Amino acid sequence: MGNRTLAIIKPDAVKNNLIGQIIKEITSAGFKIKAMKMVRLNKDSAGGFYEVHKERPFYNSLVEFMTSGPCVPIALEKDNAVAEFRKLIGATDPAEAAEGTIRKMFAQSKSENVVHGSDSDENAAIEISHFFSRKELLENYQ
Ligand code: CMP
Repeated sequence: MGNRTLAIIKPDAVKNNLIGQIIKEITSAGFKIKAMKMVRLNKDSAGGFYEVHKERPFYNSLVEFMTSGPCVPIALEKDNAVAEFRKLIGATDPAEAAEGTIRKMFAQSKSENVVHGSDSDENAAIEISHFFSRKELLENYQ
């Protein structure tokens, strides 16, 4: 199992001024921040990031939402990072998320669910490289 995952604090959370509270939950759970930035995605970048969902009925609205304002991608490190982070954020639909999870605490709906987490080690590596160069990551590993 790998020790890295990609989180994104999504545009709904940025708009609602939740960046600080969400980062506090993440670091309190023992994750180390290895790289972080605030970016406004364009259609190509958001569409490429969510390419695996291209055939899903919610794909266009997902891309529209992810381009609606800035978001905060974060490369995180912890043992068993992918599974540990998914546990911390809870189910995709906040109505189904466990008490104490980030989505349960802050999210409004399944489509606007405040935070993204990679679903496998393989996708974590792909997703981290979507936002961060090798140089940006290496600088923070020294
Ligand atoms: P995320 O973890 O970023 O990965 C894919 C996203 O698609 C997911 O979070 C949700 O925001 C969104 N999503 C997944 N399923 C649905 C759905 N049934 N309806 C709307 N949005 C969805």
